[in-house]
Amino acid sequence: HDIMKGDYGTFMQKEIFEQPESVFNTMRGRLDFETESLRLGGIQANVVAIRRAKRILFIACGTSHHSALAVRALFEEAWEKPVFVEIASDFIDRKPPIFRDDVCVFISQSGETADTLNALRYCKDHDALCIGVVNAVGSCIARETHCGVHLNAGPEISVASTKAFTSQVVALTMIALLVGQSLALFQDRSRAIIKDLHMLPDIIRKVLAMNEQILTIAKECSKQQSILLLGRGGQYAAVLEGALKIKELAYIHAEGIHAGDVKYGPMALVNQARCIIFLALRDSHFNRTKAALAQIADCGAKPVVLCSIGDRAELSPFASSVLELPIVDEALQSVTSVIALQLLAFHIGVLRDNAVDTPRNLAKSVTVE
Ligand code: G6P
Repeated sequence: HDIMKGDYGTFMQKEIFEQPESVFNTMRGRLDFETESLRLGGIQANVVAIRRAKRILFIACGTSHHSALAVRALFEEAWEKPVFVEIASDFIDRKPPIFRDDVCVFISQSGETADTLNALRYCKDHDALCIGVVNAVGSCIARETHCGVHLNAGPEISVASTKAFTSQVVALTMIALLVGQSLALFQDRSRAIIKDLHMLPDIIRKVLAMNEQILTIAKECSKQQSILLLGRGGQYAAVLEGALKIKELAYIHAEGIHAGDVKYGPMALVNQARCIIFLALRDSHFNRTKAALAQIADCGAKPVVLCSIGDRAELSPFASSVLELPIVDEALQSVTSVIALQLLAFHIGVLRDNAVDTPRNLAKSVTVE
């Protein structure tokens, strides 16, 4: 294992820094950037069936559940039909109605997660079309789904998932683009996203180059007992994932909260002593995000703000510090912000002397219900 770590001290760090290559490998042989053509061999034969379906349900656990939340809006835009995102364990508890004209997408790094696998078996029994978005080739979920897309992100060793998330967002984005090819109104948007998928490895390198700035913020956060992360739109998925990484790696209580939901309760926690990370990237919700940020600042808090390049001056009156992330299409913004939060959680974990590759009480694949 030591050899496989290369120049890195931990698999966690190696896997975070591998992401320019792992996302590229997810697109390799599938997206041709010159001709803008897209082919996903594993689901090509079922694309017409997917387009005809009545609903899409994404079913997953942990980080894989967050990647589904990150792409939900894009599917709604590309497909114009109802899209649901389910936590596999809750889905199994409820055993909700599933029909033969449903498409169920099972997202899993390991392909062995028992809750996700049980949900798959339930949906298969109800004759839904079952698609796997899985990293581990030959795993149970890869074998039992009708068709699917492998992430090709390479083995993920560290218990807490990192590179699988970004490859899941890329793979799911490609599925959305394929489904959306039949929607004339979506074609300009589709081209813009393909352009940014092409740039994505370089964009990720720019985020990784912010490592030192993120370490400085980690030093502040490492003394906290609780951290709130706020965001909306695609950044809601990012704050949930960031909070999960902080719990897993730093053992600090962290909570991802929808920025639009803060006023319905969480605001009572906000004061000048509260450690808050606020994601305010430039997207179609930016004005409302900024209003929520101003409300937080009115309560005395000075959050760490993650924003898009160019917005530092506008947002710094509300912030204790500002991190400017490279610009990327809104559909892919969770990739940049989650990588910044992975680095933050990693550094906090190391500063607190935690075993970041093997957090206490956790297993890489949870094969029990
Ligand atoms: C475990 C891992 C998480 C992962 C989750 C789902 O809890 O520690 O990092 O997100 O399982 O795993 P899967 O393999 O289904 O994506």
